[in-house]
This record gives sequence, C-alpha cells and structure tokens, in this order.
Amino acid sequence: MSFDHRKYRRFEVPNKPDRQWPNNRIDHAPRWCAVDLRDGNQALVKPMSPAQKQRMFDLLIKVGAKEIEIGFPSASQPDFDFCRKLIDENRIPDDVTIQVLTQARPELISRSFEALKGARRAIVHVYNSTSVVQREQVFGLDKEGIRQIAINGAQLVKEEAAKYPETDWVFQYSPESFTGTETEYAIEVIDAVNAVWQPEQGQEVIINLPATVEMSSPNVFADQVERVCEGVKHREHITICLHTHNDRGCAVAAAELGVMAGADRIEGTLMGNGERTGNMDLITMAMNLYSQGVDPKLNFENMAEIREVVESCTDIATHPRHPYVGELVFTAFSGSHQDAIRKCLVKRKDGDVWNVAYLPIDPHDLGRRYEEVVRINSQSGKGGVAHVLERDYNIDLPRWLQQEFSRLVQKEAEDQGGEIDSLTIRRLFEEYYLAVPDGWQLQRYDLHRGDSGISATATLSSGREYRGVSKGVLEAIVQAVTAELGQSIDIDEYNEFAVEGGTNANALACIRAVIDGQNYSAASLGEDTTSAMLQALFSIAGRYSDVITDNRKLA
Ligand code: KIV
Ligand code: ZN
Repeated sequence: MSFDHRKYRRFEVPNKPDRQWPNNRIDHAPRWCAVDLRDGNQALVKPMSPAQKQRMFDLLIKVGAKEIEIGFPSASQPDFDFCRKLIDENRIPDDVTIQVLTQARPELISRSFEALKGARRAIVHVYNSTSVVQREQVFGLDKEGIRQIAINGAQLVKEEAAKYPETDWVFQYSPESFTGTETEYAIEVIDAVNAVWQPEQGQEVIINLPATVEMSSPNVFADQVERVCEGVKHREHITICLHTHNDRGCAVAAAELGVMAGADRIEGTLMGNGERTGNMDLITMAMNLYSQGVDPKLNFENMAEIREVVESCTDIATHPRHPYVGELVFTAFSGSHQDAIRKCLVKRKDGDVWNVAYLPIDPHDLGRRYEEVVRINSQSGKGGVAHVLERDYNIDLPRWLQQEFSRLVQKEAEDQGGEIDSLTIRRLFEEYYLAVPDGWQLQRYDLHRGDSGISATATLSSGREYRGVSKGVLEAIVQAVTAELGQSIDIDEYNEFAVEGGTNANALACIRAVIDGQNYSAASLGEDTTSAMLQALFSIAGRYSDVITDNRKLA
C-alpha cells in the first residue's frame, strides 16, 4: 500500500508545562518585514524582472512596510543589480530599511556588503541550517561543527560591517530550519552568535526563528518561541523575529501565537507567496489584528491595486476565497446569511462599532463595495433578492412578496444553473409583477369625497372607464371591476411604500388578490400612491381576464 501513515513519525513536542503565552493577547502590531522580493521571489516559476521588482518594492512602500528584504545579492546577479539600483538611484525612503540574505560563507558575506555599499541603513541577514536532519544528512556535521559555521558567519559580518562605517548596520541571524532543531541547541547557537555581535554593547541584532518547514501545530511552535525568549542571553537587547512557512496551513496562526509567546517582529509576504505552500501572509495577519481593533501599521485600503500588483509580479492568480483579498470573501449566496447581513446593515448607523453577522470586517475598508456582499443563485432566499432590489433599484418589497418573488428567482437560478445578476432580477420583477397587460394601463383617475364616501373614476388606455363609490378608493374601484368581470376580487395583501430616488416613481403599491380561488399578484410604480395602487389592481384584473380568455380559447 503506498498510502501508509506508518512511514511518518510524530513530531516530538518539547515539554513546557510552564508556558505563559496562552494568557497573552496581541495588543499592538509587531514590526513587519516583507520578504516578497527574496523568499517570495525565490519560489517563483519565473523570478521577477527588474521592472516587476521595482513595482513590488513600490507597492510594499505604499502599504507601509518599513523593513524589506530585497534579495539574496550574493547568490543572484539580478538581486545584486536591484540592490545597487535602489541605493545608487536613491530609491529607498528615509524611514525604510532594506535587508539582504546571505549564507554564512566568507565570499557570500563580502559580496553582500558590496551590494549594500552606500546604504544609509541596512540589515545583513546571515543564516545556516541547524536542524537534526540538515546536520546529519546534508552537512554531515555535529552540533559543534554547525555552531562554528554560525560563529564564523557572525564574525565575518562584524568584520565586513566595520569596513563600511558610513552605514547604520543591523545584524540578523537565522538558525535556519529552527523548527527541526532541538530548542536548547538553537539557544546555544544564538548565544554563540550574540557573543560575537554583542547586542548588549549597542549593536542592533535581530534573531530570526524560521519555521523553514512547518512541522507541528502552532501551539508547539509557540512553546519553542517562548523557550527561546526566556532562554537566550541578553533578551532585552535583541529583537526576536519569526519567519513561518505554511506547510500545514497554519503559518499565520503560528506567527500569531509566536507573537503571544514573545516575538517582536514578523517576516512574511503579501498573500503568502513563498517556498512550497508559501510564507506567512502579511495581509491576513495584519488584517486579523485590524479586525480586533488593533492598528496593524500597514494599510490595505486599496486591496484591488495590491492584488493586481502581486498577481502581475508573481504570475499567481488569487484564490477567490483567499482571506480578505479573494473575490468571494465578502459574498453571501446562502439565504440565511443574506438575511442576517441585510438586517445588520440596515440597522447600522455611521460611527457604530462594526457588528455585522458573517462579515468580520467592513468590505469598504479594503475598497470593496457592499454590492458584492449579496449575490444571488439558487441557494439564496428572500432576504437576498429583496436586498438586491432595494440596494440597486430602491424597490422595497413587503414580506409576502419577497417570499413569492424569491421562489420565482430561485426557479430561474435553478433553470440557468448559476448566478442571477441584478439586471436579471429586475427584469424578472418587471415581467412577473410590474408588467401591465394590454389595454389595462391606467390613463387617469378622478376622486370626489361625498356624503356616501369616495366616488372614484378610473380611465384605462383602452378607453374603458370604471366608476364606484365606497369608503375607500380601492374598494370603490374593486366594486366596479368586480361588476365587469363577474367575479369577486378579494384583496388578500396590500402594501404601499414611498420610493426614494433612483426612479421617476414616488410610490410603489403591491397587491395580492384572490379571484375565483386563484392568487394573482401585481406591483406598480406610480407618481403617487393612488395611481400605483389602481394600476396594481388593474394589472391583476388584466391578468385574470387574460387567463379566462386563454382558457376559453383552449376550450
Ligand atoms: O525559510 C527560511 O528558513 C528562510 C531563511 C533563510 C530565513 O527563508
Ligand atoms: Zn523562508
């Protein structure tokens, strides 16, 4: 059998019963570092061109990234050239720090410093692998051998930096594959690096803990992070950074729990492009904070532009359900969701705290429109259909008509087998309710109040005239029409609404009547409530008489 779980081992969970992180909350944004141009770029089928790199860099600046890993210049000539271009053409804003990655090897470290020559401030990020599998199977080195690589790398970084005193240098070290490294050993290596860099003497140092491969559930990662934070020397003088990958689909959760466990800084990419299943998605993590009332210190108000630039630089399409970004993430098709959203939006007042069912954040904040929120297919209910008519056409339907009409829309959606757009909904409403049968168009009406009630006269396009007297206009004309049809018309439902803006009409009237045991419904938009009401009644009468005529023909 090829699908056999016994091939795999359980991840050995470090024993940390004194963990504190579950009690912590994230009440401020971590420092962010965007690695789209390095880790993200390294993972692309077709790495970014110089123009795409510049576009991505400009976008990262625009969303507010203050630390940007721009490449691996010692390993890639295009990355080297891009780094030089940014520095030589003075394209790095004063409040932004660039970062480059290098392996802990002498020639690569010195080349990285050449790439950074002349930068106002820069982070040199040096790494070597420390995990058990890398030590044993890739490098064939013991723990001490790997520790020495880290120490030598740190020493070289320090020496090279001294050759370029005009730059404000920040040193960053990653025990690459940290998640597969014994935590106590990782602490030993980190301490050895810091013994060279001496953060306690004022050198700015970042220690990055990469989940190069995500190997456990996020709570285990948080235990590892907390242990490093409490175990390393000079904790108060170093920045602890996390760099999570998404192999188990939990990169964001791991970073969040890692921040609760004490990390100060997070590396990631916009929408999570990166090796294999990707890097931690900066947008998701930042927006998660935003949705909890924490200022994420990144701005995604123009999400359409962000998405367009990321897609065009990575050549990767966005999944329609990608958190906060995908086309469908603020859309409800299901009837009960639509109903709840509609009710919450109607009740909402400007300045209210966001509290809308099924929408964790306000789509407007990301430049999305409420129009996208409710879309109609065969799963949708009366609330959704009513919402579309109200939102797009200012047509406010009574509940009975919402139920009736949504059944017609559902039938149409089932027949078409897909989504029903707003124009089709409007067309169906016209066809089924607003359409006036031939000859039944109200031309004018006349009302007189007398001792015996209201005397009403209505004239149709066919020239026919209906006259009646009763206590109300509708009753008066119902009497007249009943007399002509020879059938009683029992008004079952009647509603009228003022219509605000969007159409020439000022009033909407909706009527359901029972004639000869059958239900007939109609609606009408009129200049005033009386004309709308009379027209809806005549439309019903016209429909009934069309049915009778058709039946006679059939007989
Ligand atoms: O995933 C990783 O470990 C990396 C390091 C080089 C930081 O990208
Ligand atoms: Zn990585």
